[in-house]
Amino acid sequence: MSAAEKYLIGNWKSNKNSTDVAGFLKIFAHKCKNIKKIPLKIPKIVICPSYIHLPLSRDLIKKYNLPVELGAQNISPYGEGAFTGEVSASQLKEYVRYVIIGHSERRSNFAENEKILADKAKNALTNGLKVIYCVPDSKIPVPDGVAVIAYEPVFAIGTGKPDTPENANRTIGVIKKNYINTPVIYGGSVTSENIKSFMEKEYIDGVLPGKSSLDPISFYKMLINAAG
Ligand code: PGA
Repeated sequence: MSAAEKYLIGNWKSNKNSTDVAGFLKIFAHKCKNIKKIPLKIPKIVICPSYIHLPLSRDLIKKYNLPVELGAQNISPYGEGAFTGEVSASQLKEYVRYVIIGHSERRSNFAENEKILADKAKNALTNGLKVIYCVPDSKIPVPDGVAVIAYEPVFAIGTGKPDTPENANRTIGVIKKNYINTPVIYGGSVTSENIKSFMEKEYIDGVLPGKSSLDPISFYKMLINAAG
């Protein structure tokens, strides 16, 4: 395992209403009370709720004093202005430190190409946001200045069929040759059962679970099993 900072980033996608969000954070906060007693290095925790739940999440993370940062799942490729339905980087930065860009669900369902993704990254970076940039393989280019690269093979996303830790490690090793000093994490059907097998690999700097991040007990288990 490399000595660099590790990440556990939960992508909630289009799930949860405000009651679910409050319930998750309450239970997760209760579980995290023991965290200081754990003699292990806890990864950096980021949760990415829907836009509409960012204010509530921010307030509850503060209230419970949780060691959790917030991320957005998307961002406008434009600045502030007449772009109906979009949320700009300057609006987002009031709530989040991170933003996911280039997720395969955005690439395939919303036709986001490299130009759009580069514009999104530029807007995020000029507003001081940290970009978590997703790529499906080691060949897709990554914009300069991103904070974290997430290797997310399409066959593994939401299928319950993760990549093997060995192959994920190999692919991430290749990505790291091109983007030295940028942490690279793995995403795709990560669970509390398999998380350790990814985290302990030489080049893997963390994980980006979707489905398994929705339940606070499962997310806490992932946190404990990810600690090194
Ligand atoms: P999954 O999603 O863990 O549900 O496969 C991962 C992702 O889409 O980032």
